[in-house]
Amino acid sequence: MKKLTILYGTETGNAELLALDAGKHAEEQGLEADVRGMDQISLEELTDVRRLLVFCSTWGDGEQPDNAQDLFDAVSACESDTFSGLNYGVLALGDTAFDLFCESGKEWDAVFEEKGAHRLVDRMDCDTDYEDDAVYWTENSISQMKTVE
Ligand SMILES: Cc1cc2nc3c(=O)[nH]c(=O)nc-3n(C[C@H](O)[C@H](O)[C@H](O)COP(=O)(O)O)c2cc1C
Repeated sequence: MKKLTILYGTETGNAELLALDAGKHAEEQGLEADVRGMDQISLEELTDVRRLLVFCSTWGDGEQPDNAQDLFDAVSACESDTFSGLNYGVLALGDTAFDLFCESGKEWDAVFEEKGAHRLVDRMDCDTDYEDDAVYWTENSISQMKTVE
């Protein structure tokens, strides 16, 4: 069974709920879903992941959520080809009322590319009314992930 890792960075649970929904959909599609907070996976485990979806909100003034910061710092400090075996996609949650719209999700999308990973699906930046866009992105991303050997 192909495994899909789904990580969420969240302050108030929106990204977590989307990640859990994605996990359910992935299982329905025949993937083995592993849904975790970004503070529930080690860098060593992450470097072994082949298929990854990231759901991450932005907090403060364009900052990572608390549960995402340490992992983000660890990934940022990796060598440039560390994630060459990884296929990933990022859904960013934010609010266009803020200057740094969806900044954390943009940072995740950029750092994985910088560290050698393959962006399998384009990032989606979601404003406050995100439910329909998130469902569309999640279903499309999971069907793409199913094609990765
Ligand atoms: C105090 C506060 C700061 C925020 N800062 C930003 C920001 O800088 N950029 C942005 O795009 N959204 C920002 N947001 C919006 C959140 O990212 C958005 O509400 C998101 O859906 C929260 O998801 P979560 O529950 O997974 O953390 C902020 C929200 C709050 C309440």
